[in-house]
Amino acid sequence: MVEPKVDLASTSLFRATPAQIEETRRRRWPHLGGALSLAEYITRDEEMDVLEHAKEGKMITWVLAPREDPMTLDFMCACRTYKRASLVAYPPSSPSEPNSVHETTSYGVAAVFTPPSKRGRGYAGHMMRLLHWVTASRDNLPEFPEAWGAAPEEVADAGGGLFSVLWSDVGEEFYRSAGPRGEGDGWEKRGPVSTVWEVGTEDGDDEGWKWLTQEQLKGLWVHDARLIRKELEDMLVKKGLYEVEHPTALVTCLPTNGVAAFQIPRATYGSNFSMAGGFWGVQSLSNPDTYASWSVEMQPSPPTLIITRLWASEDTFPGLITKIKQAARRSGIPKVEVWNLRVGLKDVAEKTGGQTFIRSEHLPQIVWYGPGTTKNVEWVHNEKFCWC
Ligand SMILES: CC(C)(COP(=O)(O)OP(=O)(O)OC[C@H]1O[C@@H](n2cnc3c(N)ncnc32)[C@H](O)[C@@H]1OP(=O)(O)O)[C@@H](O)C(=O)NCCC(=O)NCCS
Repeated sequence: MVEPKVDLASTSLFRATPAQIEETRRRRWPHLGGALSLAEYITRDEEMDVLEHAKEGKMITWVLAPREDPMTLDFMCACRTYKRASLVAYPPSSPSEPNSVHETTSYGVAAVFTPPSKRGRGYAGHMMRLLHWVTASRDNLPEFPEAWGAAPEEVADAGGGLFSVLWSDVGEEFYRSAGPRGEGDGWEKRGPVSTVWEVGTEDGDDEGWKWLTQEQLKGLWVHDARLIRKELEDMLVKKGLYEVEHPTALVTCLPTNGVAAFQIPRATYGSNFSMAGGFWGVQSLSNPDTYASWSVEMQPSPPTLIITRLWASEDTFPGLITKIKQAARRSGIPKVEVWNLRVGLKDVAEKTGGQTFIRSEHLPQIVWYGPGTTKNVEWVHNEKFCWC
């Protein structure tokens, strides 16, 4: 049944109550539950919510609900945010704090959902517009539009975000148009680029490489976070490595705090799938700065091995790809995919049989709240590890 439209100013954004959180799961299940029963779907979400990347208030469910009845189960729509430790680097030409790298906070946005009976009334668009007001520092936002009524209340576990990212499955425009003041200035598209290899039949030996279990990957991501920071410092002095023309800031999420680790249980929950040997990563023994971690995409069948983090030089990359293909082959996976290989590695990928193309789904989009505009912000490591 289609419902009458409610005036948007009479609604606001609220942190969901436990009952509303369960209602969001009930609403999403018929569309996204796949082979899971409702009970299994709810349990899966509950189990994911206490993992490192989400626990202690890092994950928040938001609802757009009537101001006069914020706890209603008949709320308009919902979404989730994940608070993430991140880094920002300001290049020499930046107007603020040139030549520096800082820790900062960002947000990943996910699970944007309006039930079919409430769609097409502007609810989700309004929710996304209001979301800036609870995730960013208000000092960094313009004046709250009067036509929307009072601004949403700030929430203790949220706020202070310098940027926010999401992966759109409804094209670019919906999120781009949802800015903090209304039309425009919302999340902008960045690099929806994939590279894919067919795995083939060739196998090899394991000499010179160390396979990594989920437990061992935790240590790898600490090492990875250090390298990412060092890379940002180096990028401040090297030119020509950027996707945007005149970057005023370079930003990245970090793989630590369970962010990259989450990609594995998320993908495999409820299935009997496991990588052969329980290996979800590989590292060169002679060069510890050559490594990769991965997860899988179970749908559509057959699964794809999706690289979550990768570090290699132009010289070591072919060997690393050979090992990753080997891991895929031994697990019965015919295809390997990676998002946004850095410039130098794209050419090497082609020589190793990788095909690079622009994706039409999971479009990465970013909005920046610091000085300057989103247009001039470079998203470094716009890869699968921080997908949400
Ligand atoms: C996308 C969604 C959240 C929009 O909710 P809503 O409350 O109807 O959103 P609004 O009324 O603010 O805006 C509707 C606009 O969304 C856009 N939109 C919705 N679905 C879309 C799709 N599949 N592809 C492209 N644009 C889409 C359209 O521009 C639409 O405008 P229209 O009504 O004039 O056609 C809702 O359709 C939904 O829950 N879909 C299923 C889950 C989903 O795809 N979530 C987004 C994942 S990134």
